[in-house]
Amino acid sequence: MTSSLVSPRQAHRARGISIIGAGHVGLVTAACFAELGHRVTCMDIDANRINDLRHGVMPFHEPGLPELVERHAPERLTFTTEYEEAVRGADFVFLAVATPTTAFGTPDLQYVRAAARDVARAVNGKRPFLVSKSTAPVGITDTLESVLTSEANGHGPLQVVANPEFLREGTAVRDFLKPDRVVIGSPHAEASEAVGELYEPLGAPIIYTDIKTAEMVKYASNAFLATKISFINEIAEICERVGADVRDVARGMSLDKRIGKHFLNAGIGFGGSCLPKDVKALSHLAAVYGSHPQLLNAVLEINLEQRRRLIARLRDMLGSLRQAKIGLFGLAFKPETDDVRDAPALDLIRMLEYEEATIRACDPAAADAARIVFPTLHVEADPYEAAQDADAIIIATEWQQFKDIDLARLRQVMRTPIIADGRNVINGDEARRLGFVYFGIGLPDETTVRNARRVVA
Ligand code: UDX
Repeated sequence: MTSSLVSPRQAHRARGISIIGAGHVGLVTAACFAELGHRVTCMDIDANRINDLRHGVMPFHEPGLPELVERHAPERLTFTTEYEEAVRGADFVFLAVATPTTAFGTPDLQYVRAAARDVARAVNGKRPFLVSKSTAPVGITDTLESVLTSEANGHGPLQVVANPEFLREGTAVRDFLKPDRVVIGSPHAEASEAVGELYEPLGAPIIYTDIKTAEMVKYASNAFLATKISFINEIAEICERVGADVRDVARGMSLDKRIGKHFLNAGIGFGGSCLPKDVKALSHLAAVYGSHPQLLNAVLEINLEQRRRLIARLRDMLGSLRQAKIGLFGLAFKPETDDVRDAPALDLIRMLEYEEATIRACDPAAADAARIVFPTLHVEADPYEAAQDADAIIIATEWQQFKDIDLARLRQVMRTPIIADGRNVINGDEARRLGFVYFGIGLPDETTVRNARRVVA
């Protein structure tokens, strides 16, 4: 699959590349640069992770990644826990360490700063370009340059480049090798051109700009995607009230080329390691600089409200959620990943637990990750087991397994046949024919249509 993404005639000068951080971004970047013909060392301070990678064991699920690692390790792709080993002889050092959100809602920069300091201390002789891929507040790459200069070990400052990533989980390998664009920000022309050369074989447009603008492109892109989702979710609520169908509204909108068809699926909102974190960080950054980011704040509020509204509708239907048995279909923040970071399902679990409902969850990939957050969470491998004697099921992630669910069989095992479709993937007409009470997000049902008539009549 991945071998067809880059053609052999695109081979070029092999460079020494070091990637600091073997997370989603770091590991995919490392494997893809190896695929492009470079000598890559991927470094992480997590010894277990590095040991696993040396034995071909992936730390997370990402289609196409195991094949690339297998193809290139250990000849072109090596793994280490040592900064000296990673940085020695490298032409480029990419920083791809985590920037988790603090309790205050701001990105935690301690790992990026520590990594920059340790890279600077490890440099010996040859001076690599330092390329920041970590998403962190606008201006951070500039401050890294001063960290690097003060820690430069007598070898002179390193030239710094901001090169944001736009990798989606589940399609990250393809996104790297077939990017829509590459963004490179640096005041150093030599460094910018050198980084640009690494990406040239991919044939994508390359935007050369300054550091802050490059960092801002990343935040603005994710904020816009999040805004599209919250926009369609707000439209969905209006659709419910007037008795319209948001799926057709989105389809009708998307044929306008200026709008486009992506990110217009209404549901219980966005999650994951990037969108929620980046919108919060941008909103905070704006406020710190004296701006009042009303739209960004509304995007976040609408997103949370999607979860609250689904729970409220269920509560209305059941009278109370206390001791109600809920089958929760989906834990991952989206299908084809085992990642539950900021997953909508986690918010649903917190809300359901608060109301003392009993939850039986089911997810084809994310059960272990969810149990780290909720150690006592009851997770079934089989959705029909999760739905056994349930008063309602909630669809939180649109896994194929749930799209293909046998509704007649589901009806038989449930105590109260209610489906709350948080991703609009079930055929509502068929569900109703089988005796379910079904509701989706922004879809007309008897109640909404009746209410709408009342308003205009
Ligand atoms: C995102 C960006 O797309 C990527 O460019 C960036 O670099 C990292 O963050 P990712 O977090 O992998 O990628 O997820 P994405 O595919 O963007 O989906 C994010 C969330 O939005 C998911 O929870 C998904 O379910 C939700 N979503 C997406 C919707 O609710 N509706 C949509 O129409 C699309």
